[in-house]
Amino acid sequence: EMVIQTKKLGAEIQPTMYGLFFEDINYAADGGLYAELVKNRSFEFPQNLMGWKTYGKVTLMDDGPFERNPHYVRLSNPGHAHKHTGLDNEGFFGIGVRKGEEYRFSVWARLPQGNGKETLRIELVDTKSMGEHQAFAIADLTVDSKEWKKYQLILKPGMTQPKSTLRIFLTSKGTVDLEHISLFPVDTWKGHENGLRKDLAQALADIHPGVFRFPGGCIVEGTDLNTRYDWKKSVGPVENRPLNENRWQYTFTHRFYPDYYQSYGLGFYEYFLLSEEMGAEPLPILNCGLSCQYQNNDPKAHVAVCDLDGYIQDALDLIEFANGDVNSTWGKVRADMGHPAPFNLKFIGIGNEQWGKEYPERLEPFIKAIRKAYPDMKIVGSSGPNSEGKEFDYLWPEMKRLKADLVDEHFYRPESWFLAQGARYDNYDRKGPKVFAGEYACHGKGKKWNHFHAALLEAAFMTGLERNADIVHMATYAPLFAHVEGWQWRPDMIWFDNLNSVRTVSYYVQQLFAHNKGTNVLPLTMNKRNVTGAEGQNGLFASAVYDKNKNELIVKVANTSDTAQPVSLKFEGLKKQDVLSDGRCIKLRSLDLDKDNTLEQPFAITPKETPVSIQGHVFTAELEPNTFAVYKFTKK
Ligand code: AHR
Repeated sequence: EMVIQTKKLGAEIQPTMYGLFFEDINYAADGGLYAELVKNRSFEFPQNLMGWKTYGKVTLMDDGPFERNPHYVRLSNPGHAHKHTGLDNEGFFGIGVRKGEEYRFSVWARLPQGNGKETLRIELVDTKSMGEHQAFAIADLTVDSKEWKKYQLILKPGMTQPKSTLRIFLTSKGTVDLEHISLFPVDTWKGHENGLRKDLAQALADIHPGVFRFPGGCIVEGTDLNTRYDWKKSVGPVENRPLNENRWQYTFTHRFYPDYYQSYGLGFYEYFLLSEEMGAEPLPILNCGLSCQYQNNDPKAHVAVCDLDGYIQDALDLIEFANGDVNSTWGKVRADMGHPAPFNLKFIGIGNEQWGKEYPERLEPFIKAIRKAYPDMKIVGSSGPNSEGKEFDYLWPEMKRLKADLVDEHFYRPESWFLAQGARYDNYDRKGPKVFAGEYACHGKGKKWNHFHAALLEAAFMTGLERNADIVHMATYAPLFAHVEGWQWRPDMIWFDNLNSVRTVSYYVQQLFAHNKGTNVLPLTMNKRNVTGAEGQNGLFASAVYDKNKNELIVKVANTSDTAQPVSLKFEGLKKQDVLSDGRCIKLRSLDLDKDNTLEQPFAITPKETPVSIQGHVFTAELEPNTFAVYKFTKK
């Protein structure tokens, strides 16, 4: 029996309670959410022609129009009517395009030898085609200026092809210089030109996230400090955003992608805009002067505390970029990019997974400086446990001493951990910082994929987050995205290939919590005891909330046991005349615990809603084994 007290509303559930963690891991940004289809568009990869195949007379040049991306290519007459000069781009695991949709090709070009006109053919080709023709989208481009100029045209493919090649070749006899060669679908999410892949961004928005954390993760730290995520390089005109190495080129899983770089095309402006358009609070995380904890023995991994000024200034400038008026230095950069109104940043994180004693001493000067300039800004510090489950007991007292507003905890842990931690926050210090469960996912023992059972245990654990919403203010599953051909880490919330995507069962768990988060916790006892998770409660986990905007009572129950269990929900403290109606139950279940949603079967396991009836103020039912259920009633 579960008794839910409705008389006095419990802790307020923060609007930020359920959100998203984004990191460019598993080709989540370039090759994923960022809709650019050309790899190495500015010829700045260390091997400048990586991703390209050239033929005829192509010369690499390095005095281009964009200071931070100086390389470009020069195409010259091949010297024979039956020869071509040009180049092919392989995209990210190919270039995925759909029949009948429009793709915007753009390029910066000039005629180095002066006036006149030169022509180029732009094609999408199927290099594996067995037919007469490889090209299935063709357009001609005329370059007519001695000065660098941006040229654009639309390609409309005659077929759907997940792995095409972009081909560009000279059709006249002179010389043309080309820089920043780009191809985007016209139909991006919300139609932005430097935009996002629609299906992937829509999947994020469909969660209704309360908070959006970016840009990571370990890439905040970088493999070394030179390759840390540097937000200032990620704003301004895309053509002049420099390339950065991706920390996830090499990984702990021995999946190695030597061509994994960050174009910074999806940069901080785009992250803020996405947060705004999804209705989520932006939560940028910045480097605290330490690179990835796995590199701590490397001298390139630490900035001395006395040398942190530049890093601290980056944090202050970021707040100005987000919130400053259009006359401030960084507010003007934002305004020039198209957003004169502030982004209304309220939270900022300093440091990711820094578990050593060198972290708090670096966090301290950041906190002092931010508090001084922006007393209302909420600052997020970080803490363990690490991926072995080791907790770092000295960090919480330090976070409390430093008066961090929130502390970011990460849990990539096996089934047993998720089953045992339902009560993790029941006894946390209520007087210290709040909790941001900033990265978590159930990593099945020997089952590292997004199978149903892992998601069920995440749901069970999340009831503990919800019951403790007075102290847990944010929670974000991680990682978010993975390309099926380019992943380093799993499980992940959304998988995709070049054209399609699939929402995992973990996605649906997150969505069910986010859509049914309510406004206030309601105290719930199970068999007369506070709910403390599986132990002694037959594998049942539960939490209850009230939504005062919709007058809804919502109870979430995860049955993690292999047997069906009677569930009786007794709502106490209602007035006699209060009527509970419009009962609904949304269930997520699978008979096969190892089953997952795949690109081939994306809807194998999805939430199913059915009406249920309630007798007065008591609802009884049997909950099937291994099932997550959300019960909802409207109070009238
Ligand atoms: O989510 C993958 C990685 O896990 C993150 O980059 C890091 O913060 C954690 O170790």
